[in-house]
Amino acid sequence: MKNRINERAAQIEAIIKKYLPKEEGYEKKIYEAMNYTMLAGGKRIRPMLMQETYRFFGGGLEIIEPFMAAIEMIHTYSLIHDDLPAMDNDDYRRGKKTAHIVFGEDIAILAGDALLNYAFEVASGAFEAYPERHEIGRAMMVLAKKPGVKGMIGGQVVDVLLTGRKISDDELLYIYKCKTGALIEASMMIGAILAGADDEAVGKVERIALDVGLAFQIQDDILDITSDTETLGKPVGSDSKNNKYTYATMHGLDESRKEVKRLTEEALSYLDELSGENQFLNDLLIYMINREN
Ligand code: IPE
Ligand code: IPE
Ligand code: MG
Ligand code: MG
Ligand code: MG
Repeated sequence: MKNRINERAAQIEAIIKKYLPKEEGYEKKIYEAMNYTMLAGGKRIRPMLMQETYRFFGGGLEIIEPFMAAIEMIHTYSLIHDDLPAMDNDDYRRGKKTAHIVFGEDIAILAGDALLNYAFEVASGAFEAYPERHEIGRAMMVLAKKPGVKGMIGGQVVDVLLTGRKISDDELLYIYKCKTGALIEASMMIGAILAGADDEAVGKVERIALDVGLAFQIQDDILDITSDTETLGKPVGSDSKNNKYTYATMHGLDESRKEVKRLTEEALSYLDELSGENQFLNDLLIYMINREN
């Protein structure tokens, strides 16, 4: 499976590169900072989930490609800002020095802002290429909403506000559902919408993606404790350094692993209830439980 995932990731890499800005002009530095983190080597899980959900519902056109690039841009912006000294204050990301270390905090903040805006520039290009496809508008709404205050940003806000405090399971669930779940939900929902899935199916996909997102974040917490910086490409122990309560510190490693497995199995059983077919998507979800970085 690892080889197949790597193959897909390489194909996604080529798609993303098509949409990255040229490094030129007086403002060249900002393009360098954007491209530096975009090309530093992420796993590309979100565009992969988007593309595979699109395939699950029978999608076949290139219409999905600008949205795949856009979701990775939004995710990358969230990482650049998450690593800033004012937030998690981490020096490594994707196996390289973080953007604020290489380019300075000012340019790193602007590179995050720029990637967020650029994502919408790129995704809205789909209107021009496929003017007759009304699904693009619905996909744009999801792309705008899920990373926003009721989604990823809201989760980061509560994560920051509750840092250092013992938190309830309910608060933790809110943080995880928003800070990590929302972008995974957006990825899978946009795949379904652009493939022409109806509202009911898109709602079910949102539910599946919630489980996938929660499992993904708990696995991230586990790896923050059990992995090493080289394998992970980012510092281990970031959560304890920042006095963050995580699922793993609140429930222990064994229970965390069980929860990741339970959530994944639940997601797979919901996926099974949908009419569509994509064995790779099933395998990808299982693979994500066992990921090492
Ligand atoms: C890291 O996401 C942030 C979390 C939500 C846990 P990834 O683990 O997908 O990071 P990259 O894209 O592979 O670097
Ligand atoms: C961040 O969660 C999720 C984002 C929205 C960026 P973490 O702070 O745990 O992510 P990592 O561990 O730095 O990748
Ligand atoms: Mg964080
Ligand atoms: Mg962090
Ligand atoms: Mg983490």
